Order: sequence, then structure tokens, then C-alpha cells
Amino acid sequence: MTEALPTSAAWLTRLAGKFLVFEGPDGSGKSTQLKRLVDAAAAAGVKVTQVREPGGTPVGEQIRSVLLDPSSTMTLRAEMLLYMASRAQLVETIINPALSRGELVIADRFLTSTFAYQGAGGGLSEQDIRDVGRVATFDIRPDLVLIYYVDVTTATMRTRGVGGGGGGGGGKKGTRPTPASLQGPSLFDDRIEQRDLTFRTRVHESYLAQAKADPTHHALIDASGNAEQVWELTAKLMQQRFGA
Ligand code: TMP
Repeated sequence: MTEALPTSAAWLTRLAGKFLVFEGPDGSGKSTQLKRLVDAAAAAGVKVTQVREPGGTPVGEQIRSVLLDPSSTMTLRAEMLLYMASRAQLVETIINPALSRGELVIADRFLTSTFAYQGAGGGLSEQDIRDVGRVATFDIRPDLVLIYYVDVTTATMRTRGVGGGGGGGGGKKGTRPTPASLQGPSLFDDRIEQRDLTFRTRVHESYLAQAKADPTHHALIDASGNAEQVWELTAKLMQQRFGA
């Protein structure tokens, strides 16, 4: 579904060797947009390495299972360190080698998520996350973090399959609860999605704050439209950032 975009778009070929991160709260539709960019870049002849967090390596996927399993209990610090352990493995064995080979690396989440979820959401200090993050990542910085933003209500409705597939993030759990049930957890949520509305609101606010604090390395994208509209915004933004 990348027909709307000529594969010869010059900005696509300029992405070789770059590190892009797709971010946003659960239900933002970021993974749908990521896939479209991966397909467009590959069609333009750019070698792409696509990864996700937590996960992306065999041990990382094992860590992901533990982190998202609703029956796992752990302290906030243990949780943050597990996300970082998955990240350390991913950076050293996949991301850095791919960047050295001149490939485009596109990650579904990175450090921005830890600042949003374990920092703003959970209450860990930014300094602690930054310190551990430096060790985990060799201090590599993404060229651009694209933050897909929708309000909390829309995001929650999408993750719970209410109100159709706006942004491409709708209905992943295949259940249709009523909007009145959006405040509390759903049976179908993973361990992180089960957090309450206060937590999720802090996560959303953190994404906005991080984008505002460093607009050079972050781009905020309005993800309230449907997948096609959001892709148009994504392509336009990439054209502006990498086109010339
Ligand atoms: P995903 O559903 O986008 O694959 O992300 C998995 C969940 O993990 C999501 O709810 C966000 C959460 N998460 C954190 O809490 N901290 C992190 O550092 C990362 C990478 C993800």
C-alpha cells in the first residue's frame, strides 16, 4: 500500500545509514506507519533493518514475554532494567552492526519509551534512566524519533477495538467493550496496557514534553486520522527532514 508515494522519492534513498525510531503511546498506530516506511524504503532500493523493542533478538524476545506477561510481578527498577537489557542486546548485536554496514535502521520504540513509561508513568528519575540508557546503548542517538500522537481516549479505544481502525492501530485485541469501560484495565490488555488512566495520561504527556524539549531530534505527528492520512503526514515530514 505504498502506491501514493513514488519509490524514487529522493528522500528515501537519503535514509541509508540513518537510525529512525517510531514512538507513541499504545494505540497510536505507529507500527502500521513503520511498516509502510520499511516497505517504501526497501522498494526504493535502501537496505533496511527493522527491529522492535522490547525484543528484536532471541533473548530480547524472551525478555519481552516476561515484561508483557500479566502474571509477571517485578519492581519498577527491575522492569526498567529488563527493558534496558533487551535494548543492550539489540544495539550491540543488531543495530550497531547494521548502521556500520550503511543500512537504514528502523526501530519500533527505543529510549523515548522508557522515559515515557518507567519515567513519567512509573516515577523513575530521568537521570537514572539516562545513566542506565547510556550504558545499554553505547550512547547512540537516533537521527530522528517520530512520535505518533493521539489523545488518551482515542488511544485506549483503539487498543480495545472500539470505534474502528483509525490510524491502523485499532482493534488489535479483537474485542469491543463500551467507552464506559475505558477507565480501568481490560482482560485482553498486556501487563503494561493494564496500567490505569493516570499512568497512561502521564505517558501521553511525556511524549508531548519530550517532543517539545528537543524538536531537532523529535517530530510530533498527529495520528488521529486514518492510516492513509497519517502516512501522508509521515511522508511529508520525511521529505522536509531528509529531502534536501
Ligand atoms: P509495543 O506494544 O509497542 O510492542 O510495546 C510493548 C509495551 O512495552 C508497550 O506497552 C510500551 C512498553 N514499553 C515500556 O514500558 N518501556 C520501554 O522502554 C519500551 C521499549 C516499551
